[in-house]
Amino acid sequence: MEIKVIAARPEQLKPKPADEGNLGFGDIVTDHMFLMDWEKGKGWFNARIEPYHALAIDPAAMALHYGQEIFEGLKAYRGKDGSIYLFRAGENYVRMNRSAARLCMPELDIDFVLEGTKKLILQDREWVPRSRGTSLYIRPTMLATEPHLGVRPANGYLFFIIIGPVGAYYKEGLNPVKIHVEDRYVRAAVGGTGEAKTAGNYAASLLAAEEAKKKGFTQVLWLDAAHRKYVEEVGTMNMFFVIDGEVITAPLTGSILPGVTRDSVIQIVKHWGLKMTEKSLAIEDLIGAAESGRLKEAFGTGTAAVISPVGQITFRGKDFIVAGGKMGDLSQRLYNEIVAIQYGEKEDPYGWRAKIA
Ligand code: COI
Repeated sequence: MEIKVIAARPEQLKPKPADEGNLGFGDIVTDHMFLMDWEKGKGWFNARIEPYHALAIDPAAMALHYGQEIFEGLKAYRGKDGSIYLFRAGENYVRMNRSAARLCMPELDIDFVLEGTKKLILQDREWVPRSRGTSLYIRPTMLATEPHLGVRPANGYLFFIIIGPVGAYYKEGLNPVKIHVEDRYVRAAVGGTGEAKTAGNYAASLLAAEEAKKKGFTQVLWLDAAHRKYVEEVGTMNMFFVIDGEVITAPLTGSILPGVTRDSVIQIVKHWGLKMTEKSLAIEDLIGAAESGRLKEAFGTGTAAVISPVGQITFRGKDFIVAGGKMGDLSQRLYNEIVAIQYGEKEDPYGWRAKIA
């Protein structure tokens, strides 16, 4: 399929952010977007890059009523010499196809959407920010557009990609965050949609996060839905702990999002010869390790923040300080390693980086 390009007219171009130090996350979008449509019996068609614009959606579009919506988050990075790199982009589209299967939505041709992603970035290449710590966030999205109010998988979908320059996801940046162990609300249950990147999971997480924020926490630490016992994710990120020299993260049992950064951390930790274990960790064991000083580090991983160190865990009103409230050594080393690969500053033994310009 050909990708038709309608370039924005000069008067449609937006001003680029003047200060890359203050980009924040998620407020700025570029001049263009990628779109394509899907219909039952026809497949994907009408791939195009157009000036960024609002969507006309039928009020009866099924995504608005029954939540058939999936998305991805990935980034492009600019190296010191001006090159532009993608990081493990194919993995995001593989995951998007798994999300699509779970939500009864059509799968994508991965090579084709990668081509569309690159073409869109190159169209808006001047928007890829230049400072270390900034990047171009890429948000592929798919939603059910067929107007119909009966509950069943839709027969029509829209796929689009929007992109925008971003800085740090959390205002704390790399300063450790305080997290609250959530033992009332749950994010996802095994057998549900927790391992799919779908809007409803994020909607389900908002109330707990808002209540935690009111109490001064940045995020919540989720426990498993069946027992409220095993540690799962932190906010919208995967979670890692370093206990007695062992790096631990929750296994992918169905309620955990299979994060690309999670997988990168696992591979790097193993590559460094450290002990890396995917296993269920009971909150009592985590708290016991924190009390006895065996919990050396805790950090979240995600595309948006890369590594987000945790400096305090609060469980049933009791605060536990982690790594003296500072960023731990391993967290810092992992951050440096991943970011250096992303920006093309060091060799990439894993084959994760793809130069696109
Ligand atoms: C991430 O990249 O860590 C996320 O999942 C956050 C994103 C939904 C903004």
